[in-house]
Amino acid sequence: MRKLWVCSYGCQMNVRDSEEVTGLLLEKGYALTESEEQADVILFNTCSVREHAEDKVWSNVGALKELKAARPELIIGVMGCMAKAQRGKIFKRMPHVDFISGPAQLYQVPELIETIWEERKPMMAIQEKQRQEFQTISYHSGKVTALVTIMEGCDKVCSYCIIPYTRGPEVSRPPEQVVEEVRRLAAQGYREVMLLGQNVNSYGRRMSGEPFVLRQAQHERQRVTFPELLKRVNGVPGIERVRFITSHPWDAVEELFVAMRDLEHVCEHLHLPVQSGSDTLLERMRRGYTAEEYLGKLELLRRTVAGAAVTTDIIIGFPGETEADFEATVRLMEKARFDSAFIFNYSPRPFAAASRWPDDVPREVKDRRLQTLLKLQEQISCEKDQPYVGQTVEVLVEEPGMGRSRTNRKTYFGDQGVKPGDLVEVLVTRLRGHSLVGEIRPSTGSGRTEPTDSARTVFR
Ligand code: 5AD
Ligand code: SF4
Repeated sequence: MRKLWVCSYGCQMNVRDSEEVTGLLLEKGYALTESEEQADVILFNTCSVREHAEDKVWSNVGALKELKAARPELIIGVMGCMAKAQRGKIFKRMPHVDFISGPAQLYQVPELIETIWEERKPMMAIQEKQRQEFQTISYHSGKVTALVTIMEGCDKVCSYCIIPYTRGPEVSRPPEQVVEEVRRLAAQGYREVMLLGQNVNSYGRRMSGEPFVLRQAQHERQRVTFPELLKRVNGVPGIERVRFITSHPWDAVEELFVAMRDLEHVCEHLHLPVQSGSDTLLERMRRGYTAEEYLGKLELLRRTVAGAAVTTDIIIGFPGETEADFEATVRLMEKARFDSAFIFNYSPRPFAAASRWPDDVPREVKDRRLQTLLKLQEQISCEKDQPYVGQTVEVLVEEPGMGRSRTNRKTYFGDQGVKPGDLVEVLVTRLRGHSLVGEIRPSTGSGRTEPTDSARTVFR
């Protein structure tokens, strides 16, 4: 039996892609192994979003040179975004790699490995196109939560971003297929689904298998929007929670917020990357909104969905970022009061428009700005944590003594005989870092299939 070792970098999308390839190989009789040394096939599913992500791959794949020299029959594959972005360099810098394949060639990987077993020569499977189809592959590595890809690629043109190049234009998975997969997952015992896409809230603009250009009228008539998809997934019996990531502010419309409010199982958490608080930079980043427009959307969200948690991504040190631009980001963070934020140093990326502009913010200025924002966000996050104390939250148990609130807060409680997949209510008594700690309360039935008035008063 051939042994497989898979390592995934980057986003949740990559995690799901790795699960899909793993699932295909398990069906062919492979077995997973915990150790690289014992593997017959080693796969790296890579990320290109920042240079740092690529550096880790250069170093970790590079380190396998000796293992490959000792066991030449071992197959090493580099898949995903970096394989596509760095395809000209990978074989040159790492001749011990057997194949590289892009995100769109996911389903060809098993065949590729077979060919290499037979022919023993390096292969490159990278086409320019986006993913052509979505298969339903039953392997999922999560126990309670299953990742479900609903779309792939991106039609936005953010000037710093390599993703539209690596993953191609946006293409959505047919809604019937998504719902069918969610049904199967519920039957397998999953309680939560996380819907994945680069831009989930623009779902439905172009379905996979559809001609590239559809007549506008026909298109609009047929379109299943993201809120509509949420409604369908929400209706699948057995699924207690629906999450989704990532949303773009451009497509964050009232219809989505209303769906988040009205659909019982859809969690009150929105990850809405803002990237900057400076209108000048937002324009150069080609984000399609101003800081005020973004804040307006947040206000509408919070007015519509009581207790909604909002998280974000921010880039600092973008080309030409002045002190005034940075100050504008500080002000935005003070106004937006995110529950948490991922803050990144700008990293020039090949194929992204901004890579032609000088990366002119000095290292020490970037570092100082990063520290300032981290400190500010830490303070805001602590303030956002406080009101949970004394409240009852609905928790989906993930492992003994630990689960997550609907707003995605890690919550710890004494192990009182509940098991992963159970929904419990926890009275929060204190905080530990940014996690909640409390005791299980007898259930009032809130947050379940039958909404009660008390569900509205539970702090989410
Ligand atoms: N440099 C730094 N951060 C980036 N991101 C995307 N591209 C870059 C880049 N070139 C960040 C954005 C995005 C998140 C997934 O990664 O904040 O929302
Ligand atoms: Fe990249 Fe922007 Fe698309 Fe997100 S929306 S994947 S940041 S281009």
